[in-house]
Amino acid sequence: MTAVKKAMKVFVTRQLPPDGMKILSTSGVCEVSLWDSAGPVPRAELLKGVQGAHGLLCLLSDKIDAEVLDAAGPNLKVISTFSVGFDHLALDEIKKRGIRVGYTPDVLTDTTAELTVALLLATARRLPEAMEEVKNGGWSSWTPLWMCGYGLSGSTVGVIGLGRIGMAFARRIMPFGVKRLLYTGRTAKADAAEFNGEFVPLDALLTESDFIVVLCSLTPETQGLCDKAFFSKMKNTAVFINASRGAIVNQEDLYEALTNGEIAAAGLDVTTPEPIPTNHPLLRLKNCVVLPHIGSATYSTRGVMASLAARNLLGGLQDTQMPSELTF
Ligand code: NDP
Ligand code: DGY
Repeated sequence: MTAVKKAMKVFVTRQLPPDGMKILSTSGVCEVSLWDSAGPVPRAELLKGVQGAHGLLCLLSDKIDAEVLDAAGPNLKVISTFSVGFDHLALDEIKKRGIRVGYTPDVLTDTTAELTVALLLATARRLPEAMEEVKNGGWSSWTPLWMCGYGLSGSTVGVIGLGRIGMAFARRIMPFGVKRLLYTGRTAKADAAEFNGEFVPLDALLTESDFIVVLCSLTPETQGLCDKAFFSKMKNTAVFINASRGAIVNQEDLYEALTNGEIAAAGLDVTTPEPIPTNHPLLRLKNCVVLPHIGSATYSTRGVMASLAARNLLGGLQDTQMPSELTF
């Protein structure tokens, strides 16, 4: 008698780009159960869908904690997140249960760095505000100081977290005529020598930079890092950019800094919560540009992320190599 091997069960928490779904559906190793929606899976459905699963493919908006792991039960071998950030995963609980984790580094680095440059330029040169003035009749005539902003030429740029995306951002921003590139983090980076990057303490970066760009990961150490004391050390003419995670910024303190003239402007691709409520005070400020977490949002990058997340999941299910496994 030949034993029929049962397919392993996987739960996917959102509609994925087709490249990823195809890899899973044609693999022959798993039976896919999908939260078939463009919107986030409600918590109760996540807890239900994950029951008995061997694999979970989740998004950064899904909090994967002890409750989810308990709901999944002992079958769960692998969690594959469709993101490079993994602050939504309770790694201590995951480790305790011996579950492997896949994520999507590198494939979104260039796309996110490009968006960060775009956000910096849009914020510093006041593009959304200027476009609005064209539409609402605020453009009366060419006026010497109207709609002036801040330029990169001859400036000092400070990067908090010179990791994969931080480096890619630095490489793209230097050709704008940036004079000095400062960075801070846990360790100095040899690669920063290519643009004479200076590893400095946070306080020096805050007081000397004309543009401050947050690209570090969200950890207990970086949560709330950008607070009242942080903004008070920045130049009044400095521009603040966050393309990492919303929780790194204390938004009440940012609002104060933007309204009392402590800093010139802010550009955020990430907020707390996401989406930020449409009546949030930051959205009323002309000197605050807010984007809906679109750092990695190009068709091709999202397709590659989906394929990688699917291949990570299959590697974990089959106890083989995962193309991008998180070590923790
Ligand atoms: P990396 O791990 O390559 O870089 C993270 C960097 O954060 C490292 O250089 C690390 O420094 C630094 N860091 C960690 N702790 C601190 C700290 N206490 N102070 C200062 N720096 C610190 O990740 P990626 O560059 O690939 O991604 C970075 C983050 O960007 C992700 O975690 C994610 O949150 C966010 N992201 C946002 C996107 C968007 O759509 N807006 C898209 C993709 C990512 P060190 O090396 O010295 O430890
Ligand atoms: C990530 O991957 O962490 C981003 O925030 C979205 O691509």
